Amino acid sequence: MQTNNPIVTIRGLSKTYSGKKVVDNIDLDMDEGDFTGLLGPNGAGKTTTIKMLTGLIKPGEGSIGYYGKDFLGSSKESKKFIGVVPQQSNLDRDLTAYENLYFHSILFGVPSKERRDRIEESLTFAGLSDYRDKQVKTFSGGMKRRLVIVRALLHDPKILFLDEPTVGLDPQIRRSIWELIVKVNQTRKTAILLTTHYIEEAEKLCNKVMIINAGKIIAKGKPDKLKKEVGAFVLETFMETTIDEQFFDTREEALASIQECKYPCKVREVTLEDIFIKITGKRINV
Ligand SMILES: Nc1ncnc2c1ncn2[C@@H]1O[C@H](COP(=O)(O)OP(=O)(O)O)[C@@H](O)[C@H]1O
Ligand SMILES: [Mg+2]
Repeated sequence: MQTNNPIVTIRGLSKTYSGKKVVDNIDLDMDEGDFTGLLGPNGAGKTTTIKMLTGLIKPGEGSIGYYGKDFLGSSKESKKFIGVVPQQSNLDRDLTAYENLYFHSILFGVPSKERRDRIEESLTFAGLSDYRDKQVKTFSGGMKRRLVIVRALLHDPKILFLDEPTVGLDPQIRRSIWELIVKVNQTRKTAILLTTHYIEEAEKLCNKVMIINAGKIIAKGKPDKLKKEVGAFVLETFMETTIDEQFFDTREEALASIQECKYPCKVREVTLEDIFIKITGKRINV
């Protein structure tokens, strides 16, 4: 949904390190309820983008505005609209879940009268009420991740930035994190910008995807629409050293071509990774 008062407006955002553009000319608008995925391999520029959008580093070129106000000129005011879940969790392991949330609520100016209620609500929302007084060092990876997510929401931001929120978690725990993130987006209408190198994560969660490679956005749009542009089905042929891919609009057409295969082959549905492969000639996860 695009309104004329987006939460964030990004134009020509770039960052150069050692003469190399690691983020190259990104444009994006995000509105209430949007769920956008920044999908790309390691080193593509995802974390650098999030760091610029959340004020951890300065943009090299381009502009970032929150509700139309330039971020650099209004960063204190704008930061109240922003929640951040960094790639590395930065909880205090010796404090309890409650204490971690309490200190964050002070840091982010949650009014003292509301603190207690908001923290209890957050613990319930994350399914951690029974662990409120337990030290974080006793938590599993999934519990820590849930705590970091609700901590980022304590001051009721309009947009939540999640940098690779399920890296290193096993598949079952990953699903519980997905459920929590979707709940945030659907019940609070918080806009979400999530970075990931997991194709399935972007496909399952996001209603808009931007595929990033070497700092550049190489495709963007709704996942289904992007996939339809390459074709709905792919015939993979496993040659001696490479995998050849041919795209078809229907499964029947793809299956009909199997007869001509001289090597082992299979038909499967197109994924977002196929778009990446088609444009770059590489896989996202190598
Ligand atoms: N502070 C820095 N100084 C120099 N190069 C950096 C710095 N931060 C990131 N980079 C480089 O920028 C590129 C993008 O990094 P990053 O944004 O962390 O990618 P991603 O999060 O997609 O894995 C990489 O090549 C990385 O080595
Ligand atoms: Mg990263």
